[in-house]
Amino acid sequence: MSTTAECVNVGVVGCGYWGPNHVRVFSELDRAHLCACADLSLGRLARLARRFPHARMLPDYHHLLDDPDIQAVVIATPTDTHATLVREALEAGKHVLVEKPLCTNGTEADELLHYADACGLVLMVGHVFLFNAGILKLRELIEGGTLGRIHYLDAVRTNLGPIRGDVNALFDLGAHDISIFNFLLQGVPTEVSAVGNRITQTRVEDVCFATLRYPDGTLGHIHVSWLNPRKVRTLTVVGERKMAHWDDVNPVDALQVFDKGIDEAPHYDSFGEFHYLVRSGDTHLPAIRRTEPLLKQAEAFVAWVLDGTPCAADAASGRDVVAVLEAAVESMRRQGVSCPVKIHEPHLVSTA
Ligand SMILES: NC(=O)c1ccc[n+]([C@@H]2O[C@H](COP(=O)([O-])OP(=O)(O)OC[C@H]3O[C@@H](n4cnc5c(N)ncnc54)[C@H](O)[C@@H]3O)[C@@H](O)[C@H]2O)c1
Repeated sequence: MSTTAECVNVGVVGCGYWGPNHVRVFSELDRAHLCACADLSLGRLARLARRFPHARMLPDYHHLLDDPDIQAVVIATPTDTHATLVREALEAGKHVLVEKPLCTNGTEADELLHYADACGLVLMVGHVFLFNAGILKLRELIEGGTLGRIHYLDAVRTNLGPIRGDVNALFDLGAHDISIFNFLLQGVPTEVSAVGNRITQTRVEDVCFATLRYPDGTLGHIHVSWLNPRKVRTLTVVGERKMAHWDDVNPVDALQVFDKGIDEAPHYDSFGEFHYLVRSGDTHLPAIRRTEPLLKQAEAFVAWVLDGTPCAADAASGRDVVAVLEAAVESMRRQGVSCPVKIHEPHLVSTA
């Protein structure tokens, strides 16, 4: 087992549906050593043990946190457990990569962010789309001015399942879109209005529609549902100069850029008829080198831990996403009225 700065020893807590993907990517990295996996389910651990015989399989994650040879922990347990597990991992002196969303409320998010900072530990959030080649290309196009000023973004993320019980569809699925919007626009919305419906259960919404307003007036709309016949992962970005459409489940033309827009300001002619000139030019397919975003995210975490190189999926961006989600929940509770996004200040933070 390596303990040098050339390689980081990693443990994964939570090996249900998603955790085994982290186990796989960390076991593939040259600069990481997958040491241990923890899960409450012995059956899941037994299945993983067959694929990863060199990793210790632990039914109690405290044994993983108590191991001084493990420097970093990936947390892939249900969202409502994140705050407790992240806090415990930081207290045990581990660097943490926690699955999205960081936790379930802004106050907790702030506390974790500041606690990690005070301890000098990395706290990264698994906003995996910030490592998606299509989203990175979109960011490049926006930053370079190709699309012009962004008028609005429209995201759809639907499928049939997996249905969650701990958080609603906006926390589970919309967290991705909020992180993408904030990353593309390099900002945080000031207000959110959202509505949702509880269909399969009484505690959380299975379908949500949320509208985010950014400080410069740009709008972001999100439709998420785990009760839908089709798997859709799309994002439309409408800019002043060009428009783009990203389809993550399209393996060939994931990103399209349209030379479409309005060329002249609308005007009335002498007969009082309304005129405008639409431009419908070429469609461009930017070359995107497909890479596995989860692997890129793991590499970024290792680089941050070993080399001190921070990345966009930091705790502050994770906190911002939670603050937007919290405002959306408040809006849903109040039948869709617009609610302010509050970026919380930390309560008492102690490293003792
Ligand atoms: N980035 C993505 O695209 C993506 C995709 C799916 C899920 N996720 C996130 O991953 C997290 C887990 O989702 P999932 O679908 O794998 O859930 P899941 O319910 O399938 O798995 C969670 C696992 O955590 C284990 N667990 C719970 N409490 C534990 C504890 N105290 N100690 C050890 N193990 C514990 C459970 O036994 C279970 O095996 C969620 O935060 C979810 O939002 C992210």
